[in-house]
Amino acid sequence: MRVIHTVAEFRKWRKGAGAGMVTFVPTMGALHEGHASLVREARRMAGAKGHVAASIFVNPTQFGPGEDFGKYPRTLEADAVLLETAGCDAVFVPSAEEMYGRNAKHETRNAKPASVTIDPGPLGTMLEGDIRPGHFAGVCTVVLKLSNIVQPTHLLLGQKDYQQQAVVREMVGDLNVPVEVVTCATVREADGLAMSSRNRYLSDDERAKAPVIHEAMMWAKERYAGGERNAGALEAGMKQRIEQRGLTVQYAVAAHGRTLALWKGKIDGPCVILVAAKLGGTRLIDNEVLSV
Ligand code: PAJ
Repeated sequence: MRVIHTVAEFRKWRKGAGAGMVTFVPTMGALHEGHASLVREARRMAGAKGHVAASIFVNPTQFGPGEDFGKYPRTLEADAVLLETAGCDAVFVPSAEEMYGRNAKHETRNAKPASVTIDPGPLGTMLEGDIRPGHFAGVCTVVLKLSNIVQPTHLLLGQKDYQQQAVVREMVGDLNVPVEVVTCATVREADGLAMSSRNRYLSDDERAKAPVIHEAMMWAKERYAGGERNAGALEAGMKQRIEQRGLTVQYAVAAHGRTLALWKGKIDGPCVILVAAKLGGTRLIDNEVLSV
């Protein structure tokens, strides 16, 4: 596997990859089995003839002041082993300077670097975007930049970050980005907790409580399967279950699967439940699709 640090070098690799399939998995590193599953799927799709690319870049512009940019885990050596084992051919690992040039010194999104950025539109201001203003502008801008550097045929994203894949799909459609977005299933620990680089922030006690998010979503899923269509009933039941274990719910909602508009009253179309909760100093998000 090639480890490439500059745009110029990556472009050379890309040229060599030619006209066939190039599948791409962007990440922020601190990789786990969820990331590995995306890379394995990227390998499966590309086959022996195609090429698999990944990136590791802790993107400062998608973090807000007071968020975990500084302490975000950086584990490059282990990440390279995981990527290579999962079938990656080349990983792009740029510095902030390589990505943002003279604006790199502005570490977080609120520093308002004087540069062109992507406006993620209405999908980018609700839920995660409401709690983390500017987050999706940072995500969209870096994903578009990475796509322009890597020029993949396919971009693989995890369902774990449901709103992120929805916003990126919207951007790719609206801006005619020549790439196909593929969303891959969430990989979970044995007790249901969605794998996340941030899980390593949890203390033993917090780790024991964290699966309640998945348990609450499974409760809602069962109720939905049993015929419950009242969004408020599902939301209240999830919130109560999660808060009973001492987490603080930021949102626990039933939303439209594409527009993310919150269902009010009766759910009668594509539905995803989306949850964000705080456990000590750690923010956890998760989701489950109830109907497509
Ligand atoms: P990161 O959190 O590192 O995630 C990289 C990709 O892995 C994302 O598409 C995410 O949805 C997926 N992923 C994370 N945990 C997963 C799990 N348990 N199961 C399946 N997929 C999972 O998301 C980002 O980085 C960044 O915002 C990025 C897109 C790289 C832009 O900076």
